[in-house]
Amino acid sequence: MSPLTELHAEIERCKNCDLARHRTRVVPGEGPDDANLLFIGEAPGYHEDQTGRPFVGQAGQYLDQLIDMIGYKRNQVFIANVIKCRPPENRDPLPGELMACGKWLERQLELIKPRVIVTLGRYSMAKYFPGESISKVHGRARRSGNVIYFAMYHPAAALHQGNLRRVIEADILKLPAVLAEAGKMEEEKDRPAQLNLF
Ligand code: URA
Repeated sequence: MSPLTELHAEIERCKNCDLARHRTRVVPGEGPDDANLLFIGEAPGYHEDQTGRPFVGQAGQYLDQLIDMIGYKRNQVFIANVIKCRPPENRDPLPGELMACGKWLERQLELIKPRVIVTLGRYSMAKYFPGESISKVHGRARRSGNVIYFAMYHPAAALHQGNLRRVIEADILKLPAVLAEAGKMEEEKDRPAQLNLF
């Protein structure tokens, strides 16, 4: 069993918050153990709770299309969430739930070591772009250490507000340049630790 598979087994046993009482399945996330590109959503919805897999409902189908647009396949990227269990009625996660669940994502990132992390929506943005608003920060990349963080609107937002589709699609098309920059970073160790790309 790989360390990531072991971690996911541990996540599946988690009872650190009340969401454990409501869930059908835990949704740790999925993708290669060494993915370069990692997406972080918010929390599982109905279909994710039923299947134990992230982003398999309508928003997930749109995310698959977005991933396709940059020449990747879904199974080449890692897809995770800030919260691993579905909040009842898909309500927003509570501060205590975010606190209780935060360590799982951190441990996943320590093992996977992605070069580029894409935040989808407000909750994952808040972790890496603190104090920012999504309307300002979407489509922007920020380097911290050896990782580039890139903020996007949540794909579900486009399902409610059709005009956001254009924005989301323009943002995802910036990712190949971000990935290329992240690739160069490995070779050029003497570059500045902080960099704002867009
Ligand atoms: N929305 C999310 O943020 N995550 C999922 O897994 C599904 C929908």
